[in-house]
Amino acid sequence: ERYFDRTSDLSGKSVLITAGPTYEKIDPVRFIGNYSSGKMGYALAEECASRGANVTLVSGPVALSAKSSNINVVSVESAREMLDECQKVFPTSDISIMCAAVADYAPANPSDHKIKREKQDVPTITLVKNPDIAATLGKEKRPEQVLVGFALETDNEAVNASEKLTRKNLDMIVLNSLRDKGACFGTDTNKVSIIRSDKSRTDFPLKDKSEVAGDIIDEILKILGKV
Ligand code: CTP
Ligand code: CA
Repeated sequence: ERYFDRTSDLSGKSVLITAGPTYEKIDPVRFIGNYSSGKMGYALAEECASRGANVTLVSGPVALSAKSSNINVVSVESAREMLDECQKVFPTSDISIMCAAVADYAPANPSDHKIKREKQDVPTITLVKNPDIAATLGKEKRPEQVLVGFALETDNEAVNASEKLTRKNLDMIVLNSLRDKGACFGTDTNKVSIIRSDKSRTDFPLKDKSEVAGDIIDEILKILGKV
């Protein structure tokens, strides 16, 4: 059963999506990163574009490219750059989906020169906290804007995800459990649960990431219909 006309139900809407990992520089040849492939964020971008939206995809370093001409890819490397690009477009975005795996910390003093092995003992990398992009946008959010986050958890999944939804002022959070087979890094499938701001929860079966994207957009449209 389909409640949505998936060919045009986002026409006229502007959508901001973050995707992929961030890279935090240690020196000119090294970084702190993570295993995010960007596939879920790119699938969301294609789904939104195919339903008529204008999409800005702020993407960390990934091995993917956007197919639809309605997707404007803004490539960034660090969390700081990702936040700056998001803040440029957030005020005019109807829907914002924070799908990126943002590094929580960055090296405090990245070296301008390659760190040499023989010249020193084992180096210590001092870290500083990165900005929380979702929480920053959550503070700037207007009532008619919808802000969606993701949570990748290994334990206490629903409790942790609900807590993030509240702390970041999200309207919805998409929960992935790393305990689910077929829902890990780099795969083409995902198994998600959706938790809304009223704490209601819907569990979806394992599906292709493009189909998961369709389910997520349907849920966002239900929220948009209420505001
Ligand atoms: N997020 C973000 N900026 C950050 C960290 C996270 O925008 N610096 C977003 C992610 O894109 C995701 C949501 O916040 O939509 C939850 O990310 P997650 O890493 O699970 O949350 P954290 O608050 O960093 O908590 P944790 O300690 O579990 O990593
Ligand atoms: Ca984190």
